[in-house]
Amino acid sequence: MELREFAETVLLQPDLDLKISVGDGDWTDESPGVALRVPEPMRSASLQFALPRAAPAMPKFGGLHEPERRAIAHHIMANHELQALEAMAWTLLAFPDAPQEFRIGMADIMRDEQRHTRMHAERAAKLGVEFGSLPVNCYIWKKVQEFQSVLDYVAGLPLVFEGANLDHTLEFAQAFSDVGDERSAALMRVIHRDEIEHVRFGWAWMNRLAEENEQIWDVWMKHLHWPLRPLKAKGEQFQREARLAAGMSEEFVDQLENFRSEDE
Ligand SMILES: [Fe+2]
Ligand SMILES: [Fe+2]
Repeated sequence: MELREFAETVLLQPDLDLKISVGDGDWTDESPGVALRVPEPMRSASLQFALPRAAPAMPKFGGLHEPERRAIAHHIMANHELQALEAMAWTLLAFPDAPQEFRIGMADIMRDEQRHTRMHAERAAKLGVEFGSLPVNCYIWKKVQEFQSVLDYVAGLPLVFEGANLDHTLEFAQAFSDVGDERSAALMRVIHRDEIEHVRFGWAWMNRLAEENEQIWDVWMKHLHWPLRPLKAKGEQFQREARLAAGMSEEFVDQLENFRSEDE
């Protein structure tokens, strides 16, 4: 499938099933077209972005013994995955001149995000909450609107949001497991493994696009748009091994692990 058509279908038509199933993985990129910055993704009526703070907050781990609380967590995470998918489609449309290898690599990752959306939506429904029956936020989408270059994208999405998710996925896996929900725990571990590859993609492209002799940490800092910052790129329990498995240098992982709020 042609990448522009894929990105346009994900972003500009509202049907969820089509958004998360389109794309055959046999990519072509013959007409990337002119740069287009889409301000809002088209979504069905039930998945429209809610006003700030109208969407439910992420349930505390202590309440996850209640199936409905776990369903809400999956509902929120399904919307995170959908926003990641839409953010990547936005990037394909906004930067038609990006290297073709980058664009095709990102389309492959989008297939994972489609699958992740479906997994969380199905799990939420199984636990009693249909995807779209609660308000959803637009935090990730709004941040993406500020990206002015492929390096901004790489610094912000794979290396902040997906980087932090290396920690969050295993924190949730443990929390679900603690209340005996092994299916939800297994789902989080699958996403964790995929996320290592997504972070690898971001790390590799940051290195490829950096100027010669530039420190990667400095490139990252230069391309982060506040409030995205190193503290947002990690969760409570720092998964050092996962970051090394994603190809990050020991030096970078050390710097991130030791980074504290007073360093900002
Ligand atoms: Fe994902
Ligand atoms: Fe991802």
